Amino acid sequence: MQDETLLMMPGPVPMPQRVRMAMAKQAINHRGAEFGECFEDINRMLKPVFGTENDILVISGSGSAGMEAAVANFCAKKKVVSLVNGKFGDRLYKISKLYSDEATGLASEWGTPLDLEKLKEELENGAEAVTLVHNETSAAIKNPAEEIGKLCRKHDALFIMDGITSIGGDVVKADKWGADIAIVGSQKCLAAPAGLAAVSVSEKAWENIAEWRPLYLDLLAYKKSAQKSQTPYTPAVPLFFALREALRIVEEEGLENRIARHKNMADAVRAAAKAWGLELFPKLDKYHEYSNTATAICYPEGIEDSKFRGAINRMGIEISGGQDELKGKIFRIGTMGATGAPEVMAVLSAVQKTLKEQGKTPQSCGVMAAAEVLKV
Ligand SMILES: Cc1ncc(COP(=O)(O)O)c(C=O)c1O
Repeated sequence: MQDETLLMMPGPVPMPQRVRMAMAKQAINHRGAEFGECFEDINRMLKPVFGTENDILVISGSGSAGMEAAVANFCAKKKVVSLVNGKFGDRLYKISKLYSDEATGLASEWGTPLDLEKLKEELENGAEAVTLVHNETSAAIKNPAEEIGKLCRKHDALFIMDGITSIGGDVVKADKWGADIAIVGSQKCLAAPAGLAAVSVSEKAWENIAEWRPLYLDLLAYKKSAQKSQTPYTPAVPLFFALREALRIVEEEGLENRIARHKNMADAVRAAAKAWGLELFPKLDKYHEYSNTATAICYPEGIEDSKFRGAINRMGIEISGGQDELKGKIFRIGTMGATGAPEVMAVLSAVQKTLKEQGKTPQSCGVMAAAEVLKV
């Protein structure tokens, strides 16, 4: 689309036309049957995407509202351990500190493996809850949720998992992994508009819900309203309609196909980086993997972030830089949602051209390397 910037950042992502049109309906009564039907459709279609049979509650608020709801309702005043290897792990830690004086952060350098041995020690010493970002988007590293879930289960600790940029684009099995709480954001792999967070809650979590809870983010109030297929407060109805349409698209594509498409796109971006001779940012071990929904690439010497991304932006494509301490050090390409081979080829062509123009001659043709992976 000539008049639209192609978003190849780790969310928000381009929305299919059907999803956009779903928002254009006349206002309806959110206590009526039409909303109830939409509410139930969303619930039914979200469950397989989360890999859960648990209750799923949809909050009108961005992913961070889901993170705060999880911590406020289930970690308040508890011994909570937050695993941090990027900005969003750190955000969960910051929220945990707001709600508990007994919050501990287990931090590794951003983009490097989490320390599972230290986590074991904390659990042996009585940690009651653990927060984890499954797909740490700020560094494009995938953390070992299944492993961490096992440790939490062994020590009977609640496991709170941010799946904001993995759910709908990568394998997530909340129940099998023992995630008591899992969270997704609408504007990421589901390719819906920004503004909704969905949170799944296990029976064990409900048994441990905090007595003192916030008002707007009181998940028990959401659970009670859900029995009537409603939300406690006026929901962002147009966003619910759009999310339902986005989930229909997920169903039509098939979750497995969708996950394979995401993996293929991320593989293609990594193949391009390798061909250019650029380094991927995350440092992995046997438990940690590259993200399948976003790729973080280290800037080669001499390339300046705003000049680089500015030139790509003038070609009609938006990618992301590094956040906070990673500003100027990395750039990130998101491959989430409804995008496919044409969009990946477009962003990689723009990056390759800009690298060359700004003084870094790529070792070989990343666009061709990606084309082979994408089989275009
Ligand atoms: C892994 C992860 N968690 C949480 C968030 C915060 O979500 P939001 O910006 O929708 O509040 C993001 C946003 O990029 C994210 O990538």
